[in-house]
Amino acid sequence: MSNLNVVIAKDYEELSKKAAEYIASSINAVPNGVYGFATGGTPVGTYKALVDLYKEGKVDFSKITTFNLDEYYPILKSNENSYDYFMKENLFNHVNVDLSRINLPNGEAKDPALECVEYEKKIVEAGGIDMQLLGIGTNGHIGFNEPSDCFSSSTQLISLTQSTIEANKRYFESEEQVPKQAITMGIKTIMLVRKILILISGSSKAKIAKEFLKGSITPKVPASVLQMHSDVTVILDKEASAEL
Ligand code: PGA
Repeated sequence: MSNLNVVIAKDYEELSKKAAEYIASSINAVPNGVYGFATGGTPVGTYKALVDLYKEGKVDFSKITTFNLDEYYPILKSNENSYDYFMKENLFNHVNVDLSRINLPNGEAKDPALECVEYEKKIVEAGGIDMQLLGIGTNGHIGFNEPSDCFSSSTQLISLTQSTIEANKRYFESEEQVPKQAITMGIKTIMLVRKILILISGSSKAKIAKEFLKGSITPKVPASVLQMHSDVTVILDKEASAEL
């Protein structure tokens, strides 16, 4: 199963604890490093466990720089469904991170193309990302890099596929309110990260977990490109690992 480091946790709680420990030990190893965070249902438990580790004095966020993977476009930061709001609610408001060193693609940007160029530039200027947390969509996307005929490159504005709109509408009052576009780090941006932690939870992800880990490398399953990265840890819970 390629060179990926695969860890199977007994349930979601154990997955979350293991993921939080991985992130905390990465931060402890490089306290002034650059860390990439992700949103979605899967990492919520990880962020809770990380806040617990912080409260126990086991991790210090004060010197880190952060870059989030993606953000809807357009969306106001004050919108409860923005990823800006999610990160504050789930992590940043509860730990001693320096808010001036937090970066997310700006869903309020007037010129999204320029925002993408500047976001990518900021990552490079920060020295690249030491560790990136990822989830995976049921369609195999990482970030909002949707299944396609070719792998994407750097940070870009993309259109959400119908399957992603369907998957994310649960957070909005109606499907019409789901933004139709997003700004996302590209596949190349992600492949340049020094180490990657990807979390897969629940029976709805069992099929894509198998395609990602055991299938061939194809832009139809964007996550499959990670098989070519030299430092990837995959934590699955038992349900997600059912077809491996
Ligand atoms: P989820 O999203 O954690 O809400 O399932 C993951 C993703 O779409 O990347």
